[in-house]
Amino acid sequence: MTNKKITLTDSDGKSSEFDVLQGTHGPGCIAISDLYKKTGHFTYDPGYGATGSCKSAITFINGEEGILLHRGYPIEQLAEKSSYLEVCYLLLNGELPNSSEFDDFSDTIKTHTMVHENIRDFINGFRYDAHPMAMLVGTVGALSSFYHDSIDINNPEHRVISAHRLIAKLPTIASYCYKHHRGQPFMYPDNSVSYVENFMQMMFAVPAQEYTHNPVAAKALEVMMILHADHEQNASTSTVRLAGSSGANPFASIAAGIASLWGPAHGGANEAVINMLENIYNSGETIETTIARAKDKNDPFRLMGFGHRVYKNFDPRAKIIAGLCHELLDDLDGDQPMFNLALELEQATLEDDYFRERRLYPNVDFYSGIIMRALNIPMNMFTVMFAMARTVGWISHWLEMHSDPEFRIGRPRQIYTGHAKRDYPS
Ligand code: SDX
Repeated sequence: MTNKKITLTDSDGKSSEFDVLQGTHGPGCIAISDLYKKTGHFTYDPGYGATGSCKSAITFINGEEGILLHRGYPIEQLAEKSSYLEVCYLLLNGELPNSSEFDDFSDTIKTHTMVHENIRDFINGFRYDAHPMAMLVGTVGALSSFYHDSIDINNPEHRVISAHRLIAKLPTIASYCYKHHRGQPFMYPDNSVSYVENFMQMMFAVPAQEYTHNPVAAKALEVMMILHADHEQNASTSTVRLAGSSGANPFASIAAGIASLWGPAHGGANEAVINMLENIYNSGETIETTIARAKDKNDPFRLMGFGHRVYKNFDPRAKIIAGLCHELLDDLDGDQPMFNLALELEQATLEDDYFRERRLYPNVDFYSGIIMRALNIPMNMFTVMFAMARTVGWISHWLEMHSDPEFRIGRPRQIYTGHAKRDYPS
């Protein structure tokens, strides 16, 4: 809270005063919960571009300067020095773990990596060509049917074990979705290796031969997971909060977040970027033509992987992933021509007034598909990868919401534009 106030004066000269709340970083927020009581008016902010939905201590973004902090630590430092599981601990608990805290946390997660054997039957019930995101959203929602004894959201222990179960089981379920799609046998988790190595082994190992870990690929995936772990009140995180605000259990709330992430304007953009680049690459459509289409208001096409509601500068995650591409494509035998095309496209937008005036820069999804293809992850699994990494962010916000003294069910208002009151014809 600050001592600052804002006074709103209407056209009749009636004034109302509102408190201005100030966080650690970022602009002040006008506290308008009593706006209707004081002024008889609501606010109108489609897409919530200027509306704060909650107080949160997990992540901070400065979109003007391209800054992203998790519990105060810059994403660049976490990507360089931390591990995904350590970032999970940080997001959940607010501080980096010491070595014994990390070992305990890691051991706890490892006790939950397996899923009930019936989950196999559940996933095998999907058509062979079901989109992995369809399988993921259905299976994660169904997890609540396996834990009736520990989904009381008012029980802090139930909330924490659900968080651990979700973080531990998402890689297993994600790999099962992939294996079902490939028609290969599901692989059980291997708790003797790291979180990321375990995922890659479940994805790419087959019973018929010994699996060899690739440390370069594992490191690349570790960084990608860190970069996707959390991002303030984005559409899917806000969905998790809104779903959870009704008292929905954690598995149902996370399933809601997965559904929201699937959209091409959000987490589905990484798959859409590769489709766009492949279209340019294979169809001979020039970069100029693609950019012209993106600028044409009569064409629904948008340059996928560009633009962001908050970043009006480079998305720091995109910079780190582009650096990964430079470093790793040779080692991973990656698709250098596709990366070169992406670089050309980025350069073309930097020189184009339409993109410059609207401050449209590459976001996290623009280069991520290139790295994931280099890791032999198929395109229809890209958003599953995003969901797997973001699960810790979603559940951290869900936990924070349940501990927030101002927590109440979310229920936005509206401007009604329908028919005036009228009688049913006699
Ligand atoms: C993610 O919120 C998060 O934090 C999300 C995320 C996370 O980690 O959770 O960062 C992950 O979702 C990244 C975004 C991935 N989506 C895409 O790459 C899809 C392409 N991008 C756009 O659809 C768009 O930029 C959004 C959805 C990302 C942001 O949309 P906004 O904030 O609603 O912006 P807008 O639609 O108001 O656009 C402002 C202007 C418009 O032009 P004018 O009406 O002013 O003339 O910019 C134009 C838009 O037409 N514009 C684009 C564009 N993005 C915006 N024009 C062409 N191509 C684009 N990509």
